[in-house]
Amino acid sequence: MKPRKIKSGIYWVGTVDWDRRLFDELIPLPDGTSYNAYLIKGNEKTALIDTVDPTMTRAFFDNLNQLGIKNIDYIVANHAEQDHSGTLPQVLEQYPNAKVVVTPKCKDLLTNMLLIHQNRIMTVEDGKTLSLGNKTLEFIYAPWVHWPETMLSYLREDGILFTCDLFGSHFATSDLYVTDEAAVYEAAKRYYAEIMMPFRKVIERNLEKIKDLQINMVAPSHGPIYDNPEFILEAYRDWVYAPPKNIVVLPYISMHGSTQKMVEYFVGALVERGLTVKQFNLAKSDIGKLAISLVDAATIVVGSPTVLAGPHPNVVFATYLANALRPKLKFASIIGSYGWGGRMVEQITGMLSNLNVELLEPVVIKGFPKEENLRALDRLADQILNKHNESNLKK
Ligand code: FEO
Repeated sequence: MKPRKIKSGIYWVGTVDWDRRLFDELIPLPDGTSYNAYLIKGNEKTALIDTVDPTMTRAFFDNLNQLGIKNIDYIVANHAEQDHSGTLPQVLEQYPNAKVVVTPKCKDLLTNMLLIHQNRIMTVEDGKTLSLGNKTLEFIYAPWVHWPETMLSYLREDGILFTCDLFGSHFATSDLYVTDEAAVYEAAKRYYAEIMMPFRKVIERNLEKIKDLQINMVAPSHGPIYDNPEFILEAYRDWVYAPPKNIVVLPYISMHGSTQKMVEYFVGALVERGLTVKQFNLAKSDIGKLAISLVDAATIVVGSPTVLAGPHPNVVFATYLANALRPKLKFASIIGSYGWGGRMVEQITGMLSNLNVELLEPVVIKGFPKEENLRALDRLADQILNKHNESNLKK
């Protein structure tokens, strides 16, 4: 992709990674991603906002060469993670006058992770500005979105907020701006769920911090630019602040059909009571879809057979993930079966320590479900309905 002009003196110079399917060897990327970098040419100084993943260094330099960039004064590193900072060493080599502009925490990370010499780095305080002549960058500390060193950069004259990971989406597209809102909403929600949700409380403070800025565009470092910033700001307010919705998430595994039968019966019982259910067979599901569903859900019910006296390993992974992502869940329970015993319930509940949930009576049975087991599932469905009603949850 060639460089793209955003406004006078402001260019997108990033790269689009259409083929990447996994991030951190963990997070599925069904839609690829992009590493957005931005070049700002003031009438006195030139600044680069972030760089790109080291796998795309060549394409990135092609962009800078096509714009004929002979000198860069500042490279603002809003975040130290390598998908944005990984090409910094090469950029510093190519542009010997450039200084990297960072928070003090970012300086520490860049010197340790990328071995960048501290003489090439200048730190900025929260709220400080940097003049490029006719353009001014203001730096806004926004720690823990999603590393401790993260900051946002606000281009005052144009009202552009460069947010790096915050508000981003893993979404490869040839569009510079959001065009397909539904597709970007899904990708941005996936991104929020997988990357940002564990830091919900901090994001709440960061949203407060930027609420009085005149923002004409939000320019993240993944996915398209939001030329209608309210689209993503409103989505974040819903994901971060709003109470959970009348949704039950049910990740499960079944080995020989007993848990499957319980899940099928239980989902029917919940739906009959007017609840929305998101069911995930963990042998086949995209774990990102499970993460998305946790953004709004009020209840999680984990379904598992008993394997070697504990839950199925896929259930362990999903439970660990749900706990680590710290969603807004209010209630949790467990359903499943065993052949001759085990400690599945204790092991699953022991993995939910981050979640502020009320545990509802699990239904764990011996063998294939019988009539009394189905009645126990009805009672659990009644209890979930009552709890949701008492909490006044909306669809
Ligand atoms: Fe896109 Fe936290 O790196």
